[in-house]
Amino acid sequence: MGGSTQFIIAGNWKMNGLLQESLAFVEALTANPNAGTVEMVICPPYTLLHPLAKPFADKGVTLGAENMYFEESGAFTGSISAGMLKDAGCEYVILGHSERRDIMLEGNKLLRKKLDAAWDAGLTPMFCIGEHLGERESGSTNDVLKQQLSVLADTDTSNPLVIAYEPVWAIGTGKTASPEQVAETHAFVHQELARLGRKCKVLYGGSVNSGNAESLMACEGVDGALVGGASLKADSFMEIVAAAARVAA
Ligand code: PGA
Repeated sequence: MGGSTQFIIAGNWKMNGLLQESLAFVEALTANPNAGTVEMVICPPYTLLHPLAKPFADKGVTLGAENMYFEESGAFTGSISAGMLKDAGCEYVILGHSERRDIMLEGNKLLRKKLDAAWDAGLTPMFCIGEHLGERESGSTNDVLKQQLSVLADTDTSNPLVIAYEPVWAIGTGKTASPEQVAETHAFVHQELARLGRKCKVLYGGSVNSGNAESLMACEGVDGALVGGASLKADSFMEIVAAAARVAA
């Protein structure tokens, strides 16, 4: 770990999950047996936030959201504000996920407004960064990450923040970065954060599963995982939590 004391294992359900199956997920979840060393977070779609808030809290799971809009309220049909997420029981919000950057064309300017709005509402952003395959192959990974992190310049460093490094070529592909790539890139991210006056947890994301979680969590500078596909089933999510707890022990 990067000097912190508790791993974060966060599930990003993306556009998956109906009410009944999500209640079955909670039912199958073991109350966090490793609360001292692992924080469990689940970020379900908006429609599940209210119904899952209490069941998750009972199992020691912190609630997060997958996205938000930066305005507080008003004529923004279809949008959800940071205050609404807080009202629904969220502590975290994922911002800057590559699917939003690539599909919804979200960039630094918009993301800075979202970060500020999340902080104003008392949420902790899980800010995602990561390079595409071509960028890694051409040796520009660090430049890309630096540009994405530059959105943090001149922000109040006392505001809470978690970074998720997710190489885009590893998301949903079954390919994970090698432990060497992960350690090297996380070292760069921590160094860049320090240059920006920040010290915070840096999660790894991209095809994390119960088979590879332990070796990924053992990498220097890795403070947890942002998990997509493998967070949709309670047993594989719990296995990843257990793997992190073994590394923390
Ligand atoms: P994955 O997704 O674990 O399915 O690769 C990770 C993410 O997009 O956060």
